[in-house]
Formats: sequence, structure tokens, C-alpha cells
Amino acid sequence: MSSIIDLEKAGYPNLADRRVVIAGGTGDVGEGLLRSWLKTGAQVIVPSRTEGKVERFCEAISDLGEPANLHFVTGSYASFDEVDRLAQQIVDEHGPVTDVVAALGGWWQGKLLWEISSEEWQRYFIDASTAHFASARAWSPRLPQSGSYQLILGGSATQAVPKASIISMQQAALLMMRRALSQEAGDRHRVASQILGPVVTRARKHIDPEWVSNVEVGLVSAAIAADPAATGTDYVSYDKKQMLETLQKLNVYPR
Ligand SMILES: NC(=O)c1ccc[n+]([C@@H]2O[C@H](COP(=O)([O-])OP(=O)(O)OC[C@H]3O[C@@H](n4cnc5c(N)ncnc54)[C@H](OP(=O)(O)O)[C@@H]3O)[C@@H](O)[C@H]2O)c1
Repeated sequence: MSSIIDLEKAGYPNLADRRVVIAGGTGDVGEGLLRSWLKTGAQVIVPSRTEGKVERFCEAISDLGEPANLHFVTGSYASFDEVDRLAQQIVDEHGPVTDVVAALGGWWQGKLLWEISSEEWQRYFIDASTAHFASARAWSPRLPQSGSYQLILGGSATQAVPKASIISMQQAALLMMRRALSQEAGDRHRVASQILGPVVTRARKHIDPEWVSNVEVGLVSAAIAADPAATGTDYVSYDKKQMLETLQKLNVYPR
């Protein structure tokens, strides 16, 4: 049976005193994160590797108008130094950042493990993991105690998907990064992840009513930021039923 989530009945937290960086905010899940975080009143900063992607993305979200609390920054995720410089540039231009949500890198599937090329390995394992690791490395020392570092992960982090070995390995590595970061950050700032099944986004041609939506993922992210107890946890929402439970656990649904 379908679990219906009516976001009109959701209680978006007031995060007007927060400044969030949504890494991967121009992506399919990132768009929902951005839409939900904008509703909280927070300052929302979206880094992107290219101006062209930002332009195309702004056209796609033109229904929002031009929100005064939405800002874009361009920069590279290719190395530790470049991401560190990008983080410092964001702080210098916009002020201290309280929360970071990393929804970097997307899906890839189609080849058996022994068919994968070194170019595919580089792009979907090395480049994507480097972007995530460099982001956590740059932002962790810059976050306040009340702030959160959040990762958006897929179910392949815990369950291998045939013909998607690279992504399964990359997501499993990032889940372990979340756990290691939790241990090492201690009470310096909070760390959490969302582990998701297929997400309904603008890019989807087929939509299953049981899938979670990207704006629901965004509401969970805002709720994690608002809840001082939300740390050291992987919020698992493979489908609508689990998403409903996650939203209820975080006290944002129903209002
Ligand atoms: N889509 C789903 O159904 C789904 C389901 C479960 C979990 N997830 C998880 O959500 C996260 C984001 O997925 P998505 O579907 O939103 O991906 P996406 O549409 O491809 O967006 C990812 C964004 O990451 C940025 N990025 C920065 N460095 C990157 C790099 N080295 N390689 C690739 N992208 C890079 C890109 O922004 P710029 O090009 O602007 O720099 C891009 O817009 C992933 O961890 C994925 O596993 C997605």
C-alpha cells in the first residue's frame, strides 16, 4: 500500500540563522535539497564546476523566481587544494557556513566488473570519491559545533548492484567515510547520511509511486540540521514508507 506524503502538511524548520552549502546542488537530488532548504529561510550556496551548468539549472528552476537567499559559486572538485580554496572563497564572500550537504556524483551501470575501463574507474570511483573526500576534508574544520555535515547516498552503499560495481564500491566507501568522520569529529560538529532508494527527480522518465522524492530528501536534510540530536546516524529511506518513518522520527511530519 502506498504511503502518501503531502508536503503541505510538513513542518519546515526555521533555519533563517543558517548558511548551507549544497555540494552537487545542480544535480537531480541536489535540486530537491535546494528547494526544501530555500523554504527554511537559510542562505543556500551551491558550488558548481561550470558556469554553463549553473545557467541551465537556473532555467530549470525558474518557477522559483530569483530567491534572495540562493547563491552560486563556481570552482573545481578535482583536488584537495582546489576544494579547500573553494571553501575559503565561500566563507570570505558569504560568511561562516553552518551546514554542508554533499550530493555529489550520480549513477552509472552497464558493465560487468571485468569489462570496466580505467577511464570509467577514474570517473566514477576516483573522481567522485575524491570530490566527496576533499569536500569533507575542507568543510569539517570550518563547521560550528551546532552544524552538520551530511552525505546523500544510495542503497548500493550496503547492497551490491549487478553491473554497477564501481558505484556500489564508491558508495560503500563513502558510507565508511561518514562513520569514520563521525568518530573523528566527535562533538566538534554533527555528521549524518541519508541512504536512499530510487529518487523521483525532474530527470526521471518513469516514476514509481513508492519512490521517495528529492524534495522529501531535502526536508529530511533540513530536519537533520535543525535537530541537535541528529548525529552519527544513517537515515534509511529506500521507499515512501521508510521516508514517512524518517520524517516522523525527525518531527517534521505531519506539522
Ligand atoms: N538520483 C537518484 O535516484 C539517487 C538515488 C539514491 C541516491 N542518490 C545519490 O545522490 C547523490 C547525487 O546523485 P544525483 O542523481 O543527484 O547525481 P547528478 O544528477 O549527477 O548530480 C550530481 C552533481 O554532483 C556534482 N559533481 C561534482 N563533482 C562531481 C564529480 N566528480 N562527478 C560527478 N558529479 C560531480 C555535479 O555538479 P556540477 O556539474 O554542477 O559540478 C552534479 O550536478 C549520489 O551520491 C547518488 O548516489 C541518487
